[in-house]
Amino acid sequence: MLPKHVAFIMDGNGRWAAERGLERTAGHRAGTENIRGIIRHSKDLGIKYLTFYAFSAENFSRPAEEVGFLMKLIPEFFHREIRELTQEGARIQMIGDISQFSRPIQLVLSQAEKLTKHNDTIILNFALAYGGRQEIVRAVNQLLQSGKIEVTDQDISDALYTSGMPDPDLVIRTSGEQRVSNFLLYQSAYSEFYFTSIYWPDFSVTEFDNALADYQQRKRRFGGL
Ligand code: IPE
Ligand code: IPE
Ligand code: MG
Repeated sequence: MLPKHVAFIMDGNGRWAAERGLERTAGHRAGTENIRGIIRHSKDLGIKYLTFYAFSAENFSRPAEEVGFLMKLIPEFFHREIRELTQEGARIQMIGDISQFSRPIQLVLSQAEKLTKHNDTIILNFALAYGGRQEIVRAVNQLLQSGKIEVTDQDISDALYTSGMPDPDLVIRTSGEQRVSNFLLYQSAYSEFYFTSIYWPDFSVTEFDNALADYQQRKRRFGGL
């Protein structure tokens, strides 16, 4: 069976650029260019949910110059892609602490959500200023503020950014790192992981197909037999 929800840790942009003698920023640019093909292919296959880890809460600790560049690249990506994404029937949702971005960026992000909120061919989550622990803490605080003194698994799921969506079946991380780096901690309890040494800008549709074929070989047991 194909996964319903695939999540990507889009890692390795910097090393992709360094290997070519380019600035890290060139890697980030190439990385954003790679997203379109992955979305299109997923749509063709009928994969309904995609989540892209684009900027972690911890990525704010990078040098100001790199963060500054990414703060330009992120709105630029949505400006450039929004028309085609709308035509493809994509619904765009941001997951993460968007309030950490400047007002103009927040506006671009919320416009992309607003413009696509009635689409439902494919649902695209962009994880921005996202941290899995922060998301859980936020959920718990929301539940406490609502007056709850005891919570269920469902209560927490419903208070996460991904409320109402299926958990990721498959999490793909590029660049050779084998860690989750604070991504979808609660939601990935039973996700399958696929690690590849390919850098994100080189993660082609063929590589994606390899990951999907690998996923299809797996036996998911969810603790059962
Ligand atoms: C992933 O690529 C993109 C972001 C984290 C914003 P990196 O920038 O982490 O690239 P490497 O890991 O340094 O190669
Ligand atoms: C994870 O990559 C975050 C994104 C891909 C957006 P990092 O490059 O930030 O992760 P670490 O620092 O290697 O764990
Ligand atoms: Mg990295």
